[in-house]
Amino acid sequence: MSVEERDPHTGYLTTGHEWNGIKELNTPVPRAVYFFLIATALFSLGYWILMPAWPFGSGYTKGVLGIDQRQIVSQSIVEAARDRATWTTRIQQASFADIQADPALMMVVRETGPRLFGDNCAACHGADARGNKGFPNLTTNSWLWGGSPEAIAETIRVGINSAHPDSRVSQMLAFGRDGMLQRPDIENVVAYVRSLSHADLATDKTVADRIAAGNTVFANNCASCHGPDGKGDPSVGAPNLTDAFWIYGGDEQTVFDTVWGGRQGHMPTWEDRLSEVDRKILTLYLVDQRMAQ
Ligand code: HEC
Ligand code: HEC
Repeated sequence: MSVEERDPHTGYLTTGHEWNGIKELNTPVPRAVYFFLIATALFSLGYWILMPAWPFGSGYTKGVLGIDQRQIVSQSIVEAARDRATWTTRIQQASFADIQADPALMMVVRETGPRLFGDNCAACHGADARGNKGFPNLTTNSWLWGGSPEAIAETIRVGINSAHPDSRVSQMLAFGRDGMLQRPDIENVVAYVRSLSHADLATDKTVADRIAAGNTVFANNCASCHGPDGKGDPSVGAPNLTDAFWIYGGDEQTVFDTVWGGRQGHMPTWEDRLSEVDRKILTLYLVDQRMAQ
């Protein structure tokens, strides 16, 4: 047993251990360390009592404050749905004109429209709605079935040549394949149709005879749907043939193929796949995009 020895410089007792003349002082752990140790222990005790903490078997200690992160999340979901419900009801109930006149609702259209279009329509009509061969450009003023919001909404609802009972029915006849017109007549009417949108062709003397003959073929076979002046007819979905926009193409070979073999575009019905509100948003998104051109 060692004799208690006090270090003369610091006043501390030594532990009695000595290495090569160096003696170990018996310095106590500083008070501050004890303080923090006790404080953190008390804090965890308090936390265990107040907050959800210890798991056991099928549950966990819930804590006396009853705080539940899960409940907080579901509550904010409910609140978000309520926020959404206020504008969805307003969009559902308002007319197209009223929505267009309401900047707050149009902001919803501009925010939600691109996502809805990207998810549902872009595969066929292109991400920018400018269409692809066989899929019409939706950003022009050249509409098959009419460009009023009501007409566009109806097209989206029922589709074209779709399975919907009220589907819009679009039929460009196969004049050549079905033997309704002979090849020379088709070549003439193709020249006439192209002259409607190509100013240089209309004044080209070398094809003037074909165009004149084609004019007669057109009046007898095509005008009933495309109109006497070729500007189309939205009641049968017949496109305007006098402008720069083509679904399938305006070059000679493509127009010939169209008249020879016919065309029947398919646009799905969205009535069961998109809510009325989503269809309204898409309609106004298209109208809005076209007006921004
Ligand atoms: C499977 C391909 C496909 C998808 C997907 C599709 N469309 Fe179409 N859509 C077409 C085709 C093809 C036509 C043209 C039909 C025709 O030639 O008569 C068309 C025509 C239209 C028209 C009529 C254009 C006019 O000139 O009158 C509108 C409006 C339209 N689509 C909107 C939409 C919207 C909005 C969506 C997304 C909800 C969508 N489409 C998704 C293929 C598609
Ligand atoms: C029964 C009505 C009907 C008649 C008759 C008709 N068309 Fe069409 N035509 C349509 C419809 C509808 C379309 C659009 C087809 C589609 O995309 O589904 C179309 C499309 C076309 C197109 C394609 C336009 C484009 O943008 O690519 C051309 C070209 C055309 N018709 C020319 C003619 C000519 C020429 C005749 C006469 C020989 C004719 N059509 C007769 C209804 C008709």
